Amino acid sequence: MVDWMADYLDTVEKLPVKSQVEPHQIYNQLPLSPPEKSESMETIFEDFKRIILPGITHWQSPNFFAYFPANNSYPSILGEMLTAALGSQCMIWETSPAAAELEEITMNWLKQMIGLPLQWEGVIQDSASSSTLAAILSAREKASGFSINDQGFTSKEKFRIYCSTETHSSVDKAVKIAGLGKSNLRKIGVDKTFALNPDALEQAIVQDLSDGYTPMCVVATLGTTSSTAIDPVEKIAVICNKFNIWLHVDAAYAGTALLLPEYRWMINGIEKADSFVFNPHKWMFTNFDCSAYFVKDKEPLLRTFEILPEYLKTSTRGKVNDYRDWGVQLGRRFRALKLWFVIRNFGIEGLQEKIREHIDLGRYFEQLVQHHTEFEVLAPVTFSLVCFRFIPEGVNELDRINALNEKLLKNINNTGKAYLTHTRLAGKYTLRMVIGQTNVAREHVDAAWMLICETAKGLDI
Ligand SMILES: Cc1ncc(COP(=O)(O)O)c(C=O)c1O
Repeated sequence: MVDWMADYLDTVEKLPVKSQVEPHQIYNQLPLSPPEKSESMETIFEDFKRIILPGITHWQSPNFFAYFPANNSYPSILGEMLTAALGSQCMIWETSPAAAELEEITMNWLKQMIGLPLQWEGVIQDSASSSTLAAILSAREKASGFSINDQGFTSKEKFRIYCSTETHSSVDKAVKIAGLGKSNLRKIGVDKTFALNPDALEQAIVQDLSDGYTPMCVVATLGTTSSTAIDPVEKIAVICNKFNIWLHVDAAYAGTALLLPEYRWMINGIEKADSFVFNPHKWMFTNFDCSAYFVKDKEPLLRTFEILPEYLKTSTRGKVNDYRDWGVQLGRRFRALKLWFVIRNFGIEGLQEKIREHIDLGRYFEQLVQHHTEFEVLAPVTFSLVCFRFIPEGVNELDRINALNEKLLKNINNTGKAYLTHTRLAGKYTLRMVIGQTNVAREHVDAAWMLICETAKGLDI
């Protein structure tokens, strides 16, 4: 199987990148009841190759340009294999001291690598969604004097949360789970680069205060999902500090770019924020899942999540980090191992080199689009995401252009040769080309561009 894995990664680019199966095609090939008797690993593995593999979308293919990447690398895979072999459940320090201490060290390394204040502390969560939920729950508890965890909501609390119209849906989800009410999440307008407008934020806060609400948390994004817009953290932080509001910074994808000194301007003012998340499992060659969540002050986080049943009491409590108190999960995987392998095997320079390569390829693709008379770029390209669309000569109506681009995307993805996804920017159906897969090279970007142009030519206009 290990040989198969190595061969798979060597040849994955030849497979259809987006799975081409129909709904239920996999389900219908599988027995509806589990086997009574043991089956051999050979048979199971054959079925994996025959039935399961065709239903896999190949995220590690260099022809994968969809969503944001969930890239990986050999050191990460090896770390993950060891994690599985050890099978440790790392809920508290005692259940694997090395896991807890390696997590502390790797989070401290990451903090230095991306330029966060050194006194902040970090923990590995399963996803940015969980990290943002932790931030919003901590903010809620801090703002309520830790009374909602204790007594539940009373009619007193009228909290408001703020983010931009471009913010990831994980914020909406966290607000729902935290019991704050979707209608109390205020979506602030954006400027022409799709970044949150800080003046509009301040106006909304002032208005809410005069209407008797308590502004409780702002979520700023570095690298929004649709277009990698960058909210102005420094300006937002000043507003948050002025009104005593928790500031959470979501850099799920773009946080990796902070490894490069030329991107550090994005976190000017971060010392005024309260929490920050970025996902090494997106762009930092560490396979899913591994989300790095950092807080300025760990006390609100621990007070929000702490539990202490008799069966979890240990004599080391208070002297070590028991990460079960740092988030939703009790049971935890040993995720720090793969991250440690990645950071050591690439080195900071190796990581920087790869990220710069991806950013250069993004700029290269942007130029290809700009130089074509029938395509246009729809948002600033800051990292390695290019938002663009096809505008065939003579077609002016927005609905028609949108429908053509939707068809274009479908036709591209149906070839299995490249996989892109879409969004909508200012009403325009937008194709997203994200260059972040570990082994993507210029030849893959060129091939994708040729495919896009040829597929566009073949559209019935
Ligand atoms: C900006 C941003 N925040 C949060 C998320 C959610 O990430 P996760 O899947 O780790 O919850 C994403 C996912 O793409 C994202 O782009």
